[in-house]
Amino acid sequence: MSKILRLDKILSNMGHGSRKEVKQLIKEGAVEVDGKVVKDSSIQLNIDNQQVSVFGKALIYREFVYLMMNKPQGVISATEDAREKTVVDLLSDEYKAFDVAPVGRLDKDTEGFLLLTNDGQLAHQLLSPKKHIPKTYFARISGSVTMADSEEFKNGVVLDDGYKTLPAELLIHISDEISEINITIYEGKFHQIKRMFEAVGKKVVYLKRVSMGKLSLDESLELGQYRELTAGELETLKSSGDLNDR
Ligand code: URA
Repeated sequence: MSKILRLDKILSNMGHGSRKEVKQLIKEGAVEVDGKVVKDSSIQLNIDNQQVSVFGKALIYREFVYLMMNKPQGVISATEDAREKTVVDLLSDEYKAFDVAPVGRLDKDTEGFLLLTNDGQLAHQLLSPKKHIPKTYFARISGSVTMADSEEFKNGVVLDDGYKTLPAELLIHISDEISEINITIYEGKFHQIKRMFEAVGKKVVYLKRVSMGKLSLDESLELGQYRELTAGELETLKSSGDLNDR
């Protein structure tokens, strides 16, 4: 399917500045389409078979970007907010220009794997409850987590609002005053992990998402750092859960 887009949109998506800055660039004669200088920023181009260059350098257009972030505590999973710092605030202008948004939410005090993309279709699929995309978290829990909890989670627990969760898998690393566990869930209710532990009388004191679908967090990313997914990682993500089902 070919893709028709406005010239100024193409250039700003590719990190050549805001729409206003890009218009200026075009006016100055820095931009060529198929070898000819163009001065009209509103022209529509077919990005599949028209070649744009800026200051003589060919532009390789891409529509979508996919970023893996190691979300730090203290920032919210939103694109903008009047008071709070958001995960998008952590991105460079180059990536902000792509209008990416976080796929789902991690709480302000949750760390770890957050995917940001402007591919709305993939985001929608990853978030669809019908697709059962697994999400695994590492957590520290105040209170001793036992096999009885594991059994309860396997059967689904009833949350404070009466909702019974889908079966979840618990892996206990340390069972003590402060326990350490991994938990995998296949849905994404509000504060789900915290509320699941509350349902069994325990409290989450630290939460970090370590994987989404078949993709794990790149542990070499420091908190607040992000990078693009490789082509292979994107394929892996797309083959997760029931994403290939209709
Ligand atoms: N469950 C929670 O309680 N918080 C998150 O951030 C993610 C899952």
